[in-house]
Order: sequence, then C-alpha cells, then structure tokens
Amino acid sequence: MRSKLTKAIFPVAGLGTRFLPATKSVPKEIMTLVDRPLVQYAIDEARAAGIKEFIFVTSRGKGALEDYFDEAPQLERELRKKGKDELLEILKSTNMDSGEIAYTRQNKALGLGHAVWCARRLIGNEPFAVILPDDVIAAEKPCLQQMAEAFRETGGNMVAAMEVPEDKASAYGMLDIKEDHGHMVSTKGMVEKPAPGEQPSNLAVIGRYILTPTVLQKLNKKKTGAGGEIQLTDAIDAARDSGEEVYGFRFDGQRFDCGSKAGFLQATVAFALERAELRDELWDYIYDLVHTAKAAE
Ligand code: UTP
Repeated sequence: MRSKLTKAIFPVAGLGTRFLPATKSVPKEIMTLVDRPLVQYAIDEARAAGIKEFIFVTSRGKGALEDYFDEAPQLERELRKKGKDELLEILKSTNMDSGEIAYTRQNKALGLGHAVWCARRLIGNEPFAVILPDDVIAAEKPCLQQMAEAFRETGGNMVAAMEVPEDKASAYGMLDIKEDHGHMVSTKGMVEKPAPGEQPSNLAVIGRYILTPTVLQKLNKKKTGAGGEIQLTDAIDAARDSGEEVYGFRFDGQRFDCGSKAGFLQATVAFALERAELRDELWDYIYDLVHTAKAAE
C-alpha cells in the first residue's frame, strides 16, 4: 500500500537578502500579508492537505519564527479579561501542539536542496511535502491539497507547475514535458535556471512539492548546480533518471512570489481586497490613485 502523506518540510533558512534591511532582524517568513505572517498561510495549506508533522529548516536569526508558534498565555489572559473573544480565537488558532512541529538547522545556506536534506532524519522512508512559504497561492482549494489528491492516484514525485513568460524562465526550474494531460504532465527532465532561450518548455516549477525518499538519497551526494547551490530540482531529476516518475501539476489558483518586493506588494493588495472590512476603503484609494494619475497624463 502507498504510504500516506503526513510530513511537510518548510525550508526557511535562506538569507532573504531581497528584503534587507528588514530581514536583518525579521525573518522573511513572519512578514505579514495584511495581518497574518507568510508562514501561517503555509501551515494552513499544509493542514488542509492532511499534514500532521511540520518540519522547519531554520538558521541563525530565525528565533522570532519559532516563538510565533508558541502559546502566548499573557496575551490570551488580557484578551479574555477584555472580552475580546474573536481575537482570542484567532490567536489560539495559531498555536501548534507540542510535538507537532520540529525544527532542524541548516548551518550554512548552501541551497534549497541542501536545506531539504537537513531534514532527512525527520522524514525517514516515506513520501513528504515541501512548501516554500514565500510562494503564496490564493486558491479555492489549497494548492497542496489539490496535489495530495492527485498524488493519491499517481504516487511518484510531483511538483507544482505554472506557465511563465519566456523572458522569466531563467529564474525557475523548468520542466521538459513527456506527455501533457492538462492538469497533470509527465516529464522527461528538469533544468534549473536555464540560460535564456534554452528552456525545454514554458512550464516552471514553483514552491510546492511531493517527493519520495529517493530524492533525499540523491541529495546525499551534495552535488552543486546552478548558482553554485545544491539544487532540489537536480535531485528530483536524478530520481527520475533512476526510474521514478516526476509529474508536473498545473494547480488552480494564483501564485504570488512573496520573495520579491513586487510580488509581496501585489499579494498584500489582493489579500486585502478579499477582506470585507478593508475592501471598500482600499478600493476607493486605488480608484482615486489611478484616476489622479490618468488625469495628470
Ligand atoms: P530564495 O531563493 O528565495 O532565497 O529561497 P532567500 O535567501 O530566501 O532570499 P533572497 O534571494 O536572498 O532574497 C527559496 C526558499 O528556499 C529557502 C529559503 O528560505 C526560501 O524559503 N532556502 C534557500 C533555504 O532554506 N536554504 C538555502 O540555503 C537557500
């Protein structure tokens, strides 16, 4: 019988240089979209997909991220005293049970593949998910849940895939497609950050994966790839080379690259417009802004 998918790795050990100086002291993953840190969106998505064990790969300076998941008794007491029940419920919903969450360290930022490898002993011999919290996906059914449902049918390795414009392909891992079945594509290769014009398709890998333990074995080799980093896509492709299937999954939803400033700002506006208490005021502001700019043209 196929093993159930119950573990997810959250690699959050990157330096976050694109958000300096903020990331000098604030981990990128607890920066907020409206009022929820990026990592909360990632946890909620994982839970919806049936994940029970949450494994964080952290690094120096990420203490605030660990504290975020702890209970906050003093704060809870104050809210209870003031009768702020709604806020109290929101606060409690962010607590993680003891033992549900595990932290391991990547002591040197050697790349995403290396970060995932750092969690190998906590994974053992079963399939696992990887979620990059800085890829935020707005979707009716959370992206990892869509993938987990497809994975129950296919097994193998699965990566979230999305069409990107030609001039953006060299920023992504790109899929070489064997057969295209719409939502699902089978692949015959993957290239991390191809040189301009050398991408095998326009289908890019983004930050959601369901992987087999074979990928961890391939990462044991610690082979460096594009940018001198140990790349996760190279290890997935090596697993395919040794006979495993690698599927691309075209998810339903909109992905925001919250690792970049422009993507983060777009996500902030999109998520704020979804909130009833903010929508009208923000919309009026954007409307005025656009009209003033148009009038000045
Ligand atoms: P990024 O490429 O966005 O790098 O990593 P970064 O360090 O977070 O940000 P910039 O580019 O300096 O602004 C993609 C994901 O992989 C993790 C990051 O934390 C992020 O979730 N990562 C990357 C690691 O955990 N370890 C690494 O060595 C590299």
